[in-house]
Amino acid sequence: MTHIDTDILVIGSGIAGLTFALRVAEHAGVILVTKKARLDSNTNYAQGGIAAVLDRTDSFERHVEDTLRAGAGLCHADRVETLVRSGPQAVADLVDWGVRFSASAGRLALGIEGGHSHPRIVHSQDKTGAAIETALLKAVAEHPRIRLLEHHMALSLQAECLEGRRRCAGAWVLDLESSQAIEVRARATLLAAGGSAAIYCHTTNPSIATGDGVALGYRAGATVANMEFIQFHPTALYPAEEHAFLISEALRGEGAVLRNASGDAFMASYDGRAELAPRDIVARAVHAELKKSGQPHVWLDATAIGADRLEERFPGILEGCRAKGVDARREPIPVVPAAHYLCGGVWTDIDGQTTLPGLFAAGECACTGVHGANRLASNSLLEAVVYAERAALRMLQQLPFAPGPRGTDVPAPADLSRFPMAELASLRRRLKQVMWDHLGIVRARAEIQEGATRLEQLREEWSSLRACSSESGNGERWAEAAELLNMLDVARLVVRCAWWRRESRGLHYVTDYPYRNNESYLRDSIVVPTD
Ligand code: SIN
Repeated sequence: MTHIDTDILVIGSGIAGLTFALRVAEHAGVILVTKKARLDSNTNYAQGGIAAVLDRTDSFERHVEDTLRAGAGLCHADRVETLVRSGPQAVADLVDWGVRFSASAGRLALGIEGGHSHPRIVHSQDKTGAAIETALLKAVAEHPRIRLLEHHMALSLQAECLEGRRRCAGAWVLDLESSQAIEVRARATLLAAGGSAAIYCHTTNPSIATGDGVALGYRAGATVANMEFIQFHPTALYPAEEHAFLISEALRGEGAVLRNASGDAFMASYDGRAELAPRDIVARAVHAELKKSGQPHVWLDATAIGADRLEERFPGILEGCRAKGVDARREPIPVVPAAHYLCGGVWTDIDGQTTLPGLFAAGECACTGVHGANRLASNSLLEAVVYAERAALRMLQQLPFAPGPRGTDVPAPADLSRFPMAELASLRRRLKQVMWDHLGIVRARAEIQEGATRLEQLREEWSSLRACSSESGNGERWAEAAELLNMLDVARLVVRCAWWRRESRGLHYVTDYPYRNNESYLRDSIVVPTD
């Protein structure tokens, strides 16, 4: 069996993985694995931007307060304080790495999005994620100590027992081209495998967002938290296909208005902040309007912004709408909510360490405690940079004391390369539908329970498919089967946390308990794998 030895293994090529790799590579050798091509990451699709206090009339206190308010009581204040105060430096670091943000009159242009009390969204037109990803990938490609392996999917983490304590010692990784499992032996590992929203049938995320980081961490024994807090973005272009085209909240920041089937602007009747209310409130309002009208979508009217400004600031959105026959300069855009972001994930301390020694996590697959029950818009790219950099520093401090890479006697992962493809696709479709129907924007206990039962059946079906595998083996099929297992594991974690929380808070709204219950639930929903 092939193996590779390295100082540090990074799993994922989004903003967190790349930032982290660039930091640690000054002092250590890095292997960075990504399951598709390097540009295929959630980061690449981010339109909005990165929140940071850069205006003289803004303040750290206000950004902290906005974040805490959106988080509905569950943000960890120390983590938020660290996030916000590190914002300006994080933006400066990105600029140093070659990211070009939009500017006017010699200053970075600042937008505003829902839940923010002041303009503070640094952006690159409406393609911020792509601008960041392209610049960081270039820096990584030029770095002599980083080896980037595309089409390599992490299947399981290696854990070894050292002086009575389990620690992470790397991962088994599938080379999709050769269909071979490779043991990557590392002294320390970062999970930065991105989001999970592909477990829903309508999502703004690409199909790669299958929760790999959370599933890998959880199966290896790391604690996971707050999985019930799935953020639905209120405005995806209708019809929302499996990978729905996002209509950035920044458009509402510039003055676009949500209208119902009768053409009435409805947000002010739900929240005083109207279009700029936090995302959970806007998504629920859209959901309520759809229920009321029975229509398949509401409208986002950006016509008052003016054609010139739209062309300058939102060329990507105009293009995406045009591809579906909508001229957003002249007519309202049909929009619906779609699953967008996981606020929970693998639990970390303030320096990105998980509960499994040797394993760190950053980016969307991590739960650093900054988002609480609802993430403030554009805080996620910021969190990815700030906490990846903190994780890098802490890992470098620990590295001299970490054991060298070596074999761990952990058996190679089971060969899943012969799973029948058509059945896999059907199982995947049904899983997404279960999550959409039973764990959506508005939940009910009976629905959650039904979702739990169906997911158990799907999990059993996955195991039985494994037993009847017959087709000739290939890496794509193996990766599909492994992704589906991850999706099932993550979906079951969502159900488990949603079932535990008998209240409504932030993104978790359950009709049986429509109020917050601070007495019992002003705390994270923690899942320890041995439970
Ligand atoms: C958006 O542009 O609306 C999405 C930004 C985010 O998710 O923070």
